[in-house]
Formats: sequence, structure tokens, C-alpha cells
Amino acid sequence: MADADLMDKLVSLAKRRGYVFQSSEIYGGTGSVWDYGPLGVELKRNIKDRWWSSMVHERDDIEGLDAAILMHPRVWEASGHVDGFTDPLVECTNCHRRFRADLPEVEGGQCPVCGTKEAFTEPRMFNLMFKTFMGPVEDSSATVYIRPETAQGIYVNFLNVQGASRQKVPFGIAQIGKAFRNEITPGNFIFRTREFEQAEMQFFVKPGDDEEWFERWMQIRMQWHKDLGIRADKLRFHEHGSDELAHYAKKAFDIEYEFPFGWKEFEGIHNRTDYDLSRHQEFSGKRLEYIDAPTNERFIPYVIETSMGVDRTALVVLADAYREEEIEGETRVVLALNPSLAPTKAAVFPLVKKDGMPEIAQKLSEDLRAAAIPSFYDQSGAIGRRYRRQDEVGTPWCVTVDGETVENGTVTVRDRDSLEQVRISGDQVVSWIRERLA
Ligand code: GAP
Repeated sequence: MADADLMDKLVSLAKRRGYVFQSSEIYGGTGSVWDYGPLGVELKRNIKDRWWSSMVHERDDIEGLDAAILMHPRVWEASGHVDGFTDPLVECTNCHRRFRADLPEVEGGQCPVCGTKEAFTEPRMFNLMFKTFMGPVEDSSATVYIRPETAQGIYVNFLNVQGASRQKVPFGIAQIGKAFRNEITPGNFIFRTREFEQAEMQFFVKPGDDEEWFERWMQIRMQWHKDLGIRADKLRFHEHGSDELAHYAKKAFDIEYEFPFGWKEFEGIHNRTDYDLSRHQEFSGKRLEYIDAPTNERFIPYVIETSMGVDRTALVVLADAYREEEIEGETRVVLALNPSLAPTKAAVFPLVKKDGMPEIAQKLSEDLRAAAIPSFYDQSGAIGRRYRRQDEVGTPWCVTVDGETVENGTVTVRDRDSLEQVRISGDQVVSWIRERLA
């Protein structure tokens, strides 16, 4: 399958089956903003739950936080975003479309939309932060920014969290939340959008221990993506050269995935040194030093940041899972999602709509719901079509109630990937699925 086809197919499947819809579609859509439908919201929650569990619940050295999106405007001066969070923008004087000046097509001098050559304006720097007003008066003193990264909410709460949790350096603070960037050239579906979610963790270490912790976090984060089931040969690190480093970073590695449109970053690991805490100390006038027991040594910790885009990770998961297979002369579309990420874990079907099969299947469905296992009941159409519909959305198991069920209480469970069917007792379905999700 050609890569361009894969993106088209993913976008179409995502809409048709309820993963992702264009925002405000009935009004013609909002530029590069997307809504997650019934299946998409489950997929995203499953990704976030796994991340939160691995960062906060399974470790004793990371605390969680949920900071507000709106922050004091000085935060963004201190962080460097007011002055430095800019992209170079040019406009085509023929079609009046605007582009990032560093896009390869634009650097080549030709407008990617109308094709006119050498018609660009001089680049001007464009700040990517969205602005709004706090309170009823719309003047510059009331300007606030809508956060472009979640990290700053963690830095300004560093001592609050440390004091309340009595953590000692090294320790981390994790947060999942929305971020907003007025991207000049968004695109590629949910890859680059203006509203997105980040799962960020800031790990505070003693200066001098930062290199070692950087290495550790690189390995932990790469392994986490492999454990999601992402193909290892589609993942790689990319080290930032000096021209790519963000204003706060001493060292940075991206975790990249080979998307249908090329190798691209979906998580960054950054050594932010003591830049952010020092700047907040300077701008707020409040000491943000950590006092190390038992020596009483005072220092501003260095920060190792892991910053994952949740939407981009969802795209990685979907693109990596999409397969088309030939089975008995027919093409089967399957999303080979890790069962822990699949929105629906099991579908329950009566083979036919008679002989008591629907009633038994509905009871099984209720048992799954009572056990909080997301499931789907379907009794319409040929069984082969029902299987295919579930394959396409990534449901790992299909449970079928048939004539034998009526006789002896056993059901078949079909595996999405191997297509093998096993027969188990109907009253063991819940525990059978639970074991495989553990
Ligand atoms: N706090 C550090 C930070 O924000 P970043 O490299 O700018 O670093 C981190 O962003 C991650 O956030 C990226 O790897 C990407 O997954 C996600 N991200 C950034 N901009 C995005 C956008 N416009 N749309 C979707 N995801 C985005």
C-alpha cells in the first residue's frame, strides 16, 4: 500500500467508525482541530491511562499534577515563550496563503498552493501562543496566554508539590493536559494541530546527575512505546543538532516514528538544565531552591523532561496497527491494536437470531459490562461481516453464541490477529478476557 493511501484510508476509517471527526464539521470545519468520537476517546484514554500508570502509579518517585491552562502572564515571559516561541512566516503575494519559511518547498522559492515562483514576502517572526483577555476589560494589561506546553504549570508548582509530598530530589512531577499553538502550517490529520494534548513529566535532579538521568529516561521512554506494541523498526531516536535545540535545552533527543509522511517526532526528551526554575525564581522574586538533607546544600535542580504528544501517539498507534490482508480472496482491514489500547475489548454475537441465542448473548454482554470490560453486542447481518466490522476497529476478541452454547453453555472466542477460535465455557468469558488484559 502506498504511504499516501495509508493516510487517506486512516482518515476515512477514523471518521466512518467514530475514531476522529473534524471539529465543527457542519460549519465547514475548524482549521486543524479534531474531535475524538466514541472509539477515539477510548483509545486516547487508554494511552493516557497506560502513561499515567507507568509514571505515577508504578513509581514512588513521581507525583501527579493537574495545573490550570491559564497562568499568570509573567510565566510566559520567564519561560522565554513571549520573546522566543516564534516561527518565521512568509506570505505568497499571489494567493496570499501564509507558510512557515523553513518548509522545504518554501525554501525552494515556489508557493506550495498556487505554484508561483519567488513571490514570497520577507520572513517575519510569528508568535505561536494564543492570547485572550482575563476579565471584562480587553486591554493589554488583561492579556493572558493559553498555554503552549503543560511544563510551566509543573515548574511553578515545584516547591508546592515537593513540600506536600515530601519527595526528595531526584523526583518527578507528571501531568497530562491540553496545550495550544497557533501553528502556521498545521496538517497531516492529528499530527500537527492547534489544540492538542501533552503527557509531560519533569524529573528534578541534582546538577551533575543530569546526564545519567537523561540516558535513563531515553531508554525508559523508548521501551514504553515498544511495550505498546509499536514495531521496533519504525521507531528511532533523533538527536537535536545545535540549530534545532529549543531555547531552554542543553541536549534533546526526539523519539521518532516512520509515519506514512516520513520520520517525525512524537515525543521529546530534553535536558532543560536549571533554566526554567532559575528564570521563575528571577521573574517571581521567590526562591525556588531545593535544600538537600542532610548537608543543607542549596541548589536549583536540573530538569530532565519527557514530553509526549498524546494525539501524535494515537496516530502512531493507529498507523502502526493498520493492516490489509488477503483472506480467501477477500481483503480484510484490521487494526492490530494492543488489546490494552483497543477501545472495545470484546464483541458478542448470537450466530443467528433464534433458538434462544440472542438472549444468551445479551446476558454475556451484561456480564462484560458489569465487569467494566468495554464490549459491543451485534446481532445483525452475516457473521463474517460482523467479524470484519470488529477487525476494522481493532476489537481483539469476538465471542459467538451458537447451537452448541444452547446445548452445553460453551461459546467460541475468535482472535482478531490469528483468526483462531477456541471454545470456552460462557461463564468463563469475563475471566478469560481479564487474564489477557492483565
Ligand atoms: N514541553 C516541551 C515541549 O512542549 P515540544 O517538542 O514542543 O516540547 C512535545 O512538544 C510534544 O508535543 C511533541 O513531541 C509532539 O508530540 C507534541 N506536539 C507539539 N506540537 C504539537 C502540535 N502542534 N500538534 C500535535 N502535537 C504537538
